[in-house]
Amino acid sequence: MKRQLFVLAIVACLPLCTSANADEKETTTPPAWEKENPLKPLPKPPLGIDSTFESLPKPPTPETVRLGRWLYYDTRLSADGTVSCATCHVPEHAFSERTPVSTGIHGQKGARKAPSFLNQAWTIYPHFFWDGRAGSLEEQALGPVANPIEMGNTVEKMIDSLNEIKPYAAYFKEAFGTPEINKERVAKAIADYERTRMSGNSAFDKWQENRFEDGYKESEQDAIIKKGFELFNGKAECNQCHLGQNFTDSLFHNLGIGWNEAEKKLADIGRYEVSKKEEDKGAFKTPSLRDVTKHPPYMHDGSIKTLKEVVEHYNKGGNANPHLSTKIKKLNLTDEEVDLLVKFMEALDGEGYMDTAPKAFPK
Ligand code: HEC
Ligand code: HEC
Repeated sequence: MKRQLFVLAIVACLPLCTSANADEKETTTPPAWEKENPLKPLPKPPLGIDSTFESLPKPPTPETVRLGRWLYYDTRLSADGTVSCATCHVPEHAFSERTPVSTGIHGQKGARKAPSFLNQAWTIYPHFFWDGRAGSLEEQALGPVANPIEMGNTVEKMIDSLNEIKPYAAYFKEAFGTPEINKERVAKAIADYERTRMSGNSAFDKWQENRFEDGYKESEQDAIIKKGFELFNGKAECNQCHLGQNFTDSLFHNLGIGWNEAEKKLADIGRYEVSKKEEDKGAFKTPSLRDVTKHPPYMHDGSIKTLKEVVEHYNKGGNANPHLSTKIKKLNLTDEEVDLLVKFMEALDGEGYMDTAPKAFPK
């Protein structure tokens, strides 16, 4: 009975619906770029990420995320149409990169590595960039566009270019209610796309989830994760800074990276530039350890090649310098323990964030 009514309702609506559609749109086949980037429900946070989009003050919507996905991969946001966000924040490298530092427009090299932004919809403190100079993903998103060695554009020219690509207006309307293209909207859309890039369901997350269940049988890998996690939180004290679901306190610490012992000088003063506090010289934001295997070399300057060498850096007590964090000291880890920490970090490789650039863009 119910079903019959439903069918009737559709039949009754058909002539009305199609005529209304015909008024709005001339063609019924959507443009190729929509097929490449359809509206999709927001992804669900994977196992291990105990946060929800609803908890955010202005949650993403399928419409802002679709628009942001185009903008994120669109090289037309750069001055000469060659560089997009994905040039440096590469999906298969957990939205970081496999080079020590970034290369931007005209092949210019920066001084820092592009960090991963997985799971950054939720942070303990709102600090973005290695020195925390941006207070939100929105504030951060326009920085690279106008950075002369990243995308080399100006925000005004980028908005002009987007206005010239006529079909974009419809997607700004879809996302924000009116077709106006402005920098706040560009930033919000890109930031919302970034917020949907989440990683979880790693071997570590599965172990955390299952280990208290009745009849749970520990696998060989679980045993390694368990011992590794104990070491990480115990003797090695990595959790002083790498903590919470994203393994970062989002605060700044000096490990002595970039310290030149011969010249008694830091190559990059880091957080000090923002805070002007003496103790912040050479301090950088603690990076997440999720999917860390995907983007060697490591640290803000890409100066450490492998995870094993990273652990050895901690084991020897970092690089002594006048501002070394008081949390960093010699650890006396055995070779076996060093390897165990590396294996533990390997178990943080997760899933859920992968994406590829859409094959077509509004044009
Ligand atoms: C030329 C390479 C390059 C391009 C292009 C680029 N970035 Fe970055 N990105 C970097 C580097 C390098 C950093 C770190 C800079 C710093 O900390 O001073 C960074 C930092 C970030 C961060 C901070 C992450 C964190 O954990 O603090 C986010 C988010 C980000 N970029 C997003 C974007 C977006 C969005 C775009 C496109 C609009 C973009 N990037 C374009 C190289 C790039
Ligand atoms: C005092 C805080 C602190 C402690 C303790 C600490 N880390 Fe870090 N970790 C950081 C900071 C800050 C960075 C980035 C430093 C930089 O680039 O100058 C970092 C970087 C890393 C990186 C490189 C990640 C990347 O994306 O480049 C790895 C891996 C890492 N830490 C693992 C560990 C392990 C394992 C331990 C325990 C042995 C540990 N950390 C202890 C603060 C800390």
